[in-house]
Amino acid sequence: MSKILVTGASGHLGRMTLQHLLGRRPATELVGLARDPGKAADLAAHGVEIRAGDYVDHDSLTRAFAGVEKVLLVPAPAFTDRSTQHATVIAAAEEAGVEHIVYPPIIRKAGSEFALPQVTEPDTATIKVLEASGLRSTILGHPPYIESVQGYIGDNAFESGVRVPAGDGKVAPASRADLAEAQAVVLTEPGHEGRTYALHGAPAVSFSDVAEILSEIRGTTVHHVPLSDEEYLDQLVAGGLPGAAAEFVLSWVHAVNRGEWDDQPGHLERLLGRKPTTIAEFLRDHPATAR
Ligand SMILES: NC(=O)c1ccc[n+]([C@@H]2O[C@H](COP(=O)([O-])OP(=O)(O)OC[C@H]3O[C@@H](n4cnc5c(N)ncnc54)[C@H](OP(=O)(O)O)[C@@H]3O)[C@@H](O)[C@H]2O)c1
Repeated sequence: MSKILVTGASGHLGRMTLQHLLGRRPATELVGLARDPGKAADLAAHGVEIRAGDYVDHDSLTRAFAGVEKVLLVPAPAFTDRSTQHATVIAAAEEAGVEHIVYPPIIRKAGSEFALPQVTEPDTATIKVLEASGLRSTILGHPPYIESVQGYIGDNAFESGVRVPAGDGKVAPASRADLAEAQAVVLTEPGHEGRTYALHGAPAVSFSDVAEILSEIRGTTVHHVPLSDEEYLDQLVAGGLPGAAAEFVLSWVHAVNRGEWDDQPGHLERLLGRKPTTIAEFLRDHPATAR
């Protein structure tokens, strides 16, 4: 029987995708990949087979992909050699007889010069390797997660305001849960091979819109406080982020402010068959960052 395998089963996006897949396919057709299968024991308890595999270990991947028809490749974290790891996954999948890979890069506007360190270049490299492989593929462009936008503004935003570098660009973020559900749809319905989607959420919001949303949730005014880049980096480091991670977050905020993710193509809504969760709904239900 051909199976669907989701990598990153021990992480947020992979786990949520498998949870949605459990509602669409028998558990016996689902496989999760984890470096430490014990970290996905909750999925195993629902009958999902968890196979051990590491993106840096080609042979572990060919073993894990045995009998698998479709793979969702959850990207490796930034600050690792993502390009090499993803190329290893794709080569092992092809060798093991996998037919279709679903890959979620970060969305880039057509013709954009924009580069996000550690992210856009490995994404481009991965898509090139996929295109050159004999595999069918589906590209599911991700916007920033709503959870990430929550991280940019910090859990203190209700009290201290939305303190981010100045700019009035908009972002259309989506929740991990909605992105995971859309991935489960693409993995289980026909007709998505060779397609590229951009899974923006809705609506697109600026940081001053986010301040208004927080004001409505709290019933008091939450201000948008424009900072210099240096002030923002200091704030992130004071909150416990290492300097390199703070620079990384700043590059995402710059991209938001230049409107890199402000489109509304409606692909996510069409895949879900309903409106995606809005950032206002999410922040009302999750007032603190989930890490
Ligand atoms: N769009 C956005 O705003 C946004 C934000 C953050 C991240 N991302 C990207 O989306 C990915 C998934 O996000 P997430 O929230 O699910 O992250 P997460 O919870 O950190 O999960 C990452 C998963 O990747 C696995 N992994 C890491 N290195 C691996 C390797 N060498 N071999 C096999 N598995 C490996 C991890 O396994 P372990 O449990 O063994 O570590 C974990 O299961 C991230 O890795 C990142 O590339 C996007």
